[in-house]
Amino acid sequence: HIYGPDRVNSAGTNLHINSQIEPFMQNVQQYLDNQWHAKPIIDGKEITTNEEAVFCPYDNTHQIGTVHKVSEELALDALTIAHKNFIAWDMTPVEQRAQILEKIADVFEENEAELIALCSRDGGKTMQDGIDEVREAVDFCRYYANNARKDFGQEITLPGPTGESNHLYLQGRGVFACISPWNFPLAIFTGQVVAALVAGNTVLAKPADQTTLVAYRAVQLMHQAGVPTSVLQFVPCRGSTFGKVILSDIRIAGVAFTGSTSTAQTINRTLATRDGMLSPLIAETGGQNAMIVDSSALPEQVVADVIQSAFTSAGQRCSALRVLYVQEDVADRILEVLSGAMQELKLGDPTDLSTDVGPVIDAVAREELAGHVEQLRATGNLIAETPMPAGLEKGCFLAPTAFFINHINDLTQEWFGPILHVIKYKSKELDQVIDQINGYGFGLTLGIHSRNESTATYIDKRARVGNVYINRNMIGATVGVQPFGGQGLSGTGPKAGGPFYLHRFATEHTRTNNT
Ligand code: SER
Repeated sequence: HIYGPDRVNSAGTNLHINSQIEPFMQNVQQYLDNQWHAKPIIDGKEITTNEEAVFCPYDNTHQIGTVHKVSEELALDALTIAHKNFIAWDMTPVEQRAQILEKIADVFEENEAELIALCSRDGGKTMQDGIDEVREAVDFCRYYANNARKDFGQEITLPGPTGESNHLYLQGRGVFACISPWNFPLAIFTGQVVAALVAGNTVLAKPADQTTLVAYRAVQLMHQAGVPTSVLQFVPCRGSTFGKVILSDIRIAGVAFTGSTSTAQTINRTLATRDGMLSPLIAETGGQNAMIVDSSALPEQVVADVIQSAFTSAGQRCSALRVLYVQEDVADRILEVLSGAMQELKLGDPTDLSTDVGPVIDAVAREELAGHVEQLRATGNLIAETPMPAGLEKGCFLAPTAFFINHINDLTQEWFGPILHVIKYKSKELDQVIDQINGYGFGLTLGIHSRNESTATYIDKRARVGNVYINRNMIGATVGVQPFGGQGLSGTGPKAGGPFYLHRFATEHTRTNNT
């Protein structure tokens, strides 16, 4: 039982229950005007360096705090401390490490309101996304705590000749570098760090530049929950600095990374050129995720699931739908309903509960995405566009759009925003469609809408992707329920929130004893 009976996922606040809304918003509002000041945390000390101002994606004039980044020298100090403390941490009983993770989950839940406010101010998250973010972080802690007890808590006894005993058990690898993305500034940051820690590794945590404040607060709470300051070092810095100073160091025993495929490739190259340990990279990268809708699908259900899959979190999920393949017999009907639904989406302040789509992460992302939209618009293939309300000029907003394209290969990259590309196909072309999706090289999520079970099963088997979703939306993988991660250009596996994740953070060790 991966899911239970010994563990259940957290409930979080349910914004569909009226009585929960007001207390929730009151709690969050207390923190919305906070100023947060993120500093490197090395051996438990918060270190002041050069300060950079941080602004909110919703309002680029609203300063929400400052970030202090590590110098190269400080980053190396952090590595030295993590390296020195590894063996003692790895020899700590796993039960103790697991209990610390469970305590982190409790502390995150106690601080839910501040964490949600932070995710919204720093990462532009809507309230629902903030709730989901805290829940996922909490679930990772409890899930990996449980798995660690099972995987690290007992030795496996192996056969041997009389007089000899043989055992196998898992050990941590050493210092893990955890490099997290801005789109799940709390959940993925936490998932990487706690997985590495509970497996017996010490950690250098490098947050995404854009969401350092969230990660900083998470590390403070982790230390408060009992993670020794000697084993978790917080090293905010630019990716290039981290690559040059830390990843090239022979003391790095493994890297957990979530971000772009090209950065994962750069990390691989850096690790490979070291004259030292053969250290693994665990990478979760992007996707050119498709949904295939055949003529048996229910149009209203398709549209609801397309809207959620393509535009939730302003399309800034690696699982998000990018390319909708719709069978031409039903395309007009479905696209008409989709256009209507897109008119109703509300762009706006992510702290307003009626907002469907908040800002994208920053002005650079907005400009790149807007450039792609303008190119698509010039082809004359616009299907629908959500109206942009007045008054959002100070934020990084991009209206959701849908365009026809001819072929998935027309897309030169993954566009990480609320842009849906639509392709019509004929029933006899289904194999070609699946082969095109496979041929693109990514392999993360795939949606299927079909009431024909044999068609759905056929597509599922033929597709080379990590996560398939049939007759539902294709985002929001739940810890322990839909272990998440892809293949090919989308990542190395193992799946986050899955039963094999912790193994990759560990090394196998046997002991033969001639008694
Ligand atoms: N795990 C997220 C989801 O499933 C994507 O990173 O939406």
